[in-house]
Amino acid sequence: MTTPQHPDDFLHMMRMRSASEQGIFWVDDERLAVFEPEAARRVSATNWHGFTMHDRLIDVVRRRTSPEMPWSRIRAAWLTQLHALATAEHHGHLIERMERIIDARLGEDVDLTMLAQDVAVRSLLPLALGGLTAAESNLVRRDLEGKLLRLVSPEPGSAWQQLRFVGVQVRSGLVVRRVLRQRANGRRGREPDLTDPFVDLLPELGMDRALDVVTAVLTAIAGPPGTAAASLLYEFSRQPEWRTRLTDELSGVDPAAFRAAPTSEAPVTHRFVKEVLRLWSPPLLLVRRSTYAFDLGRARLGAGEWYLLSPHMIHRDERVWKQPDVFDPDRFLPGAPHGPADRTCYVPFGWAPKKCIGANIATVQLMALCHQLCTRYHLTVDRPQEVTMALRFAPVPENFHGRLTPR
Ligand code: HEM
Repeated sequence: MTTPQHPDDFLHMMRMRSASEQGIFWVDDERLAVFEPEAARRVSATNWHGFTMHDRLIDVVRRRTSPEMPWSRIRAAWLTQLHALATAEHHGHLIERMERIIDARLGEDVDLTMLAQDVAVRSLLPLALGGLTAAESNLVRRDLEGKLLRLVSPEPGSAWQQLRFVGVQVRSGLVVRRVLRQRANGRRGREPDLTDPFVDLLPELGMDRALDVVTAVLTAIAGPPGTAAASLLYEFSRQPEWRTRLTDELSGVDPAAFRAAPTSEAPVTHRFVKEVLRLWSPPLLLVRRSTYAFDLGRARLGAGEWYLLSPHMIHRDERVWKQPDVFDPDRFLPGAPHGPADRTCYVPFGWAPKKCIGANIATVQLMALCHQLCTRYHLTVDRPQEVTMALRFAPVPENFHGRLTPR
């Protein structure tokens, strides 16, 4: 079987097959789709259990044996740091950074998808890797933009463009190495960010694996947060009734308070954000390699074979969601008849033990964006009837032009 060229067609074909083959089927000779919610949960849980970071290639080259590093230790370091950063002060800084980026473009005619991307990535960067000089930050941002462009763009760039991307990527990697080294030897100050815990782990982890860990976070903030923010703008512009409900709720709320309990601070807004993430989950497909053999009933997955997971497919599955293509945040009200069949059916942040570490901060950021759209800015979309959702590595609003102006 061949894969259709256009991603929208590919996703459509996958959805049809998923419905008729109950979420588990071979997409081609090499990849098994695991779109059945419980099977996806089970495969993830088993596959990554005990996952360890090795440094085999570098060890061979350097004739040494690095200590193994369980992935659970990396995640624990990230989560401890995120917990320490979940304060009103740090969230206030994040929200201020978002506002500064938007304020600089106020009144300008912009591609709203690109603006949302810019706001999300640039406001999150200091949380991932802080204390950079302007030149360093510019280089890392260019690297992230390059990564995103390759994911979003339907066309691969020219050979020259690709070469430039690689050049920027290498130089950005050198920045990360320098930051880690200088923080370790005291020539640069420590920062409250997701890189810092690995300065102390450097002796065990080694520079190459530390770079991989920091790159994992940088790659994670380069994609989903920005496309989710663009999808949020898209639904905000299309749902007048929800705009009113959000404005009613948010006018008297301090967005820094979202950190503690989003559901009780702003339940309507929280439902709105959840529904945006259900309908327009980024990334559309996660490609994974199995470490173990699995008997999934309808198919067997051998050790070393590839499988696909997809929050998007699960969120659009008619067997577990009623009217899955309809935007309706109230489906998350307790006991709603069109709500999720059970917890395995709502997975915008993936599955344990590889589940997104940034789920809370991402939710705070999207709720803060709602707050800004309701209290600080006015969103105008040009030719709204021409805006469409393209399914690339993630759902991305296309022909989405307009501007933000002060309220
Ligand atoms: C709306 C925004 C976001 C969405 C929808 C999202 C979604 C995801 C998904 C689906 C995964 C893969 C989980 C799996 O393999 O089962 C993931 C992993 C990850 N995300 Fe996010 N993410 C978002 C924001 C963030 C942010 C803000 C950060 C950092 C602060 C972050 C850091 C990570 C990291 C480091 C991983 C890899 C975890 C691991 O390999 O153990 N994400 N994310």
